[in-house]
Amino acid sequence: MEQRKEASIINVRDLNLFYGEKQALFGVDLAIQEKEVTALIGPSGCGKSTFLRTLNRMNDLIDGVKITGDVVIDHENIYRSNDVIKLRTKVGMVFQKPNLFPMSIYDNVAYGPRMQGIKNKKELNIIVEDSLRSAAIWDEVKDRLKTSALGLSGGQQQRVCIARAIAMKPDIILMDEPTSALDPISTLKIEELITNMKKDYTIVIVTHNMQQAARISDKTAFFLNGEIVEYDDTDNIFSTPQDQRTEDYVTGRFG
Ligand SMILES: Nc1ncnc2c1ncn2[C@@H]1O[C@H](COP(=O)(O)OP(=O)(O)OP(=O)(O)O)[C@@H](O)[C@H]1O
Ligand SMILES: [Mg+2]
Repeated sequence: MEQRKEASIINVRDLNLFYGEKQALFGVDLAIQEKEVTALIGPSGCGKSTFLRTLNRMNDLIDGVKITGDVVIDHENIYRSNDVIKLRTKVGMVFQKPNLFPMSIYDNVAYGPRMQGIKNKKELNIIVEDSLRSAAIWDEVKDRLKTSALGLSGGQQQRVCIARAIAMKPDIILMDEPTSALDPISTLKIEELITNMKKDYTIVIVTHNMQQAARISDKTAFFLNGEIVEYDDTDNIFSTPQDQRTEDYVTGRFG
């Protein structure tokens, strides 16, 4: 399995993670390429979300977590730097369930930029419009920007969540099963959106949906029991997996 180091924006080396006594990640190595979509697949409980959260230090918020090994993003070892705010600006996240704030659509998207100190109204207007356009939701919400974001459908809310992430101008966007709570049409919209977004962003997405991984990702990592069993071009993972366990999983024989 070839990992082209020169284009990788995230380099993970020998990463171990413990929840208290319980080890959840075992010696994970992975080089994630810039401006590609990388899918993380594997059965429930194998460590996909745990791994994803190590990439923007979201596990720091959980008591008793211990992490060893290196996560290097853009040449910076993120566990040796204390600037978590800067890291989370660079590495945005979209969760399984839309988690908009109980405020207007506009204020949701402007929230991050305002926290960064941007106060100029014109500037904020531009950021909000650009972000909503990039998230393919502008036309649906442009006439109701000042109404509550919670009045939108689930699929619309999830695209506003993506707009909110984009408004921070991240390089990398992490998505943890972003379509699992959505209907098939909203799911397709988000998949299309992700495919378009990769010209500007590096995307790492956890999905239980094998077809989704095959449709939208360039690379796929198969996790099992806290380890990466196989990582390769998505086409190879689904057509000619090298490991029997990968084959069993992608053909639906287990998990
Ligand atoms: N906050 C936590 N405290 C203790 N153990 C945890 C915590 N979060 C996850 N785990 C454990 O770590 C392991 C990996 O969990 P994780 O949520 O990363 O799996 P996953 O692959 O995302 O699963 P799913 O597909 O069900 O979302 C599991 O055994 C889980 O029980
Ligand atoms: Mg998970």
